[in-house]
Amino acid sequence: MSPFSSLKLIALAVVLVAGLAIRKYRKRNGLRLPPGPRGLPIIGNLLDIPKETSWLVYEDWAKSYGNVMSLEVFGQVIVILQSPQAVKDLFEKRGATYSDRPLPTFYEMARWDWFLPVARSDDQWRAGRRELERSLRPSSAVQYRPMLKAKTLEFLQRLVVRPENFKSHIEHLQSAINMAIVYGYEVKGRDDKFVNTVKDFVILAQKCALPGALWVNDFPFLRHLPDWLPGTGFKVLAKKSCELGEEVINGPLTFVKEGMLNGTAQPSMALDRLRECKSAKEEREIAIALGSLHAGGSDAMVAVLYTLFLVLVRDPSVQARAQAELDAATGGSRLPEFEDRPSLPYIDAICKELLRWKMISPLAFPHATTEDDEYQGYFIPKGSFVIANAWSILHDPEAYPDPFAFKPERFLNADGQVIDDPALSGVFGFGKRICPGRHLVDSMLFIAVALVLSTFKVGKAKDAAGNEIPVEGTFFGTLLYQPSPFECSIVPRNQITLELIAAAVE
Ligand code: HEM
Repeated sequence: MSPFSSLKLIALAVVLVAGLAIRKYRKRNGLRLPPGPRGLPIIGNLLDIPKETSWLVYEDWAKSYGNVMSLEVFGQVIVILQSPQAVKDLFEKRGATYSDRPLPTFYEMARWDWFLPVARSDDQWRAGRRELERSLRPSSAVQYRPMLKAKTLEFLQRLVVRPENFKSHIEHLQSAINMAIVYGYEVKGRDDKFVNTVKDFVILAQKCALPGALWVNDFPFLRHLPDWLPGTGFKVLAKKSCELGEEVINGPLTFVKEGMLNGTAQPSMALDRLRECKSAKEEREIAIALGSLHAGGSDAMVAVLYTLFLVLVRDPSVQARAQAELDAATGGSRLPEFEDRPSLPYIDAICKELLRWKMISPLAFPHATTEDDEYQGYFIPKGSFVIANAWSILHDPEAYPDPFAFKPERFLNADGQVIDDPALSGVFGFGKRICPGRHLVDSMLFIAVALVLSTFKVGKAKDAAGNEIPVEGTFFGTLLYQPSPFECSIVPRNQITLELIAAAVE
């Protein structure tokens, strides 16, 4: 018998015994759990949970079970909210109860509970949030504009030289911005040690969180098995992962501390905060908050900018309208600036539609409850996982007619001015857990979209025989929903734009 199947047997045996104690329908004051598909004994709805595009299945289930429904897997209650009202009532008005996270057991073993996106709602998370809210509030985000523009111009220069590598240029842009803002650090290129450490951490963290990836997440008692038992390799992995996590937190911060000693530290969030820091406890809080920012925001923006190129290659009319607006604002003789934003409503609308159209995080991240609760006559037990189907809210055909089409003009009024849509913030999650990077994203996205569109023409790539390579436009991923790889041609719009880029990065 393979080590894997021996583990499986132990796990199933324990679950079968424990399962006898699981009550299928938990009640309080005669209230039942929210409705949902009927599950099997013990495993509950394990086999019902969709492996891909689950948000579409949940949206469909809402027709039968309503906008507050539930599933149960081995006794774990999962509540799914699919209306703006339910999300507001629970995640915002009852935020004190609904802001915990379901921390996977492997993360606990790897001591990754410092990582804010997955951290429990404890004092450490609260301190980290305070740090981030302070450094990333809209007024602070303004000070990063010159750097955002400079890094985006370097990105344009890379596109001129090697347009076929546009995906890796986008990745470089994101890392370069993150590392400059957070640590005042200049990314060295493909082999940068800090960037690679974060990449390894994010890949491992995503892999280990996938349903079914590690048995210990489904059967936490497996963590207590002795190390010598075959199939317990996850224990060794957890130890190594702990070291990797510490490198993410401490590596770049040590770089800043050394820079402070020898006078080379550049302006950054880390420098600001370390200057004021009074204790080792406070320094750890700073390290955790900044490490979380650095790792937490690493691939979301990449997916959004990759989607921009997909849209441009598939829909020439968006490109043409955007370029006409940009040329009218700049006269075609200079590059756009942040200050041009009021005269670029269509560019603003593209940014909004890029976030809404194929949301990178359609179910946001799951929240968890810290107390028993009642809502709309249903019982929601303490420890429930609560998921908001942000996709269904932002693809409701009443609010967003023709919701699956990419239509920036949906965010413009009859006068061509941008419509403020508060529901769009659902792209960044909800309540006390809402993405702290959202104001920074707003600036990063605007300047990237404006600069790319003012300087390049994006079209279909051609094969060796000169035939256009079709672009399917499919998306994949559960934790990060992103475009499948595609090719496109990216050429400077004209000699003037080429010269403007060259002059700007000199
Ligand atoms: C387009 C880009 C982005 C999108 C769509 C996005 C979306 C999200 C979502 C949906 C959540 C979960 C919210 C919830 O649980 O309700 C989140 C959390 C988080 N995001 Fe972002 N994000 C983006 C970019 C960034 C960036 C650039 C950073 C850092 C600079 C960042 C840092 C974080 C952190 C630290 C959390 C965890 C917050 C917590 O659990 O308290 N994100 N983000």
